[in-house]
Amino acid sequence: MRPESARRGAIVTGGASGIGAVTAALLRDAGYEVVTVDLLAAADVKGDVREPGTAKRALEALTTPPGVLVNCAGITKGGLVEKTSLEDWNLVVGVDLTGAFVFTQAVAPAMALAGGGRIVNVASTLALRARRGTSAYAAAKAGLIGFTRACARDYGRSGINVNAVAPGLVETKLSEQIPAETRARLIEETALGRSAKPEDVAEVILFLCSPASRHITGECIRVDGGQLA
Ligand SMILES: NC(=O)c1ccc[n+]([C@@H]2O[C@H](COP(=O)([O-])OP(=O)(O)OC[C@H]3O[C@@H](n4cnc5c(N)ncnc54)[C@H](O)[C@@H]3O)[C@@H](O)[C@H]2O)c1
Repeated sequence: MRPESARRGAIVTGGASGIGAVTAALLRDAGYEVVTVDLLAAADVKGDVREPGTAKRALEALTTPPGVLVNCAGITKGGLVEKTSLEDWNLVVGVDLTGAFVFTQAVAPAMALAGGGRIVNVASTLALRARRGTSAYAAAKAGLIGFTRACARDYGRSGINVNAVAPGLVETKLSEQIPAETRARLIEETALGRSAKPEDVAEVILFLCSPASRHITGECIRVDGGQLA
């Protein structure tokens, strides 16, 4: 897989761990100059995705024009609606939804100026079918899919395709907090009878950054092993 034009930059939020880290590695292999953004020290740019200053620093860290933005930073917190504090709600919506807005707003103009590019937002199957006790996360990820469609409209004429992926259960740090019983049930629900590895999702993100997906925009691709099939 090759970048669409001459050497271009890629910004991957949540790029120090899990799906984001594998996506960053695949984009590097594909020839992109990659800047990862994360709260973790392993990132190229350490910072909070909710802060416009973090997005500005990420852009400044690139020596080539941005061609790809992957909004992958995410957290899950809270529980039943009545047990979810406003603080937790704002945190989850802030990271999982507002973070993508902040980075898109900062990066898309430079991407458009460079002739276009690709934005991929990492949503979740919980945006499509919620479970008990997931209100903040389900709302944030459903919002992210709506935001993806709106951005496809806003940026289509600037040559920017904007898509989302909706993973099911993926073996990462984030999913370690899921109780064993729930995990077994989730796997049982999938058509393929297994959870995903970060690579399974990252390769679909790469597809959405590749020339092969040039006529796809405003789409959300489930990468869930058939959990919602
Ligand atoms: N693991 C799953 O089962 C699963 C399922 C569906 C969707 N997702 C989504 O995939 C994405 C990647 O998650 P993952 O599973 O690789 O988990 P992960 O915990 O390994 O990676 C998420 C990364 O986001 C970073 N992050 C969190 N808050 C941040 C902030 N405010 N600013 C900057 N970085 C921040 C974390 O430090 C972490 O490195 C998330 O958006 C998550 O919601 C994961």
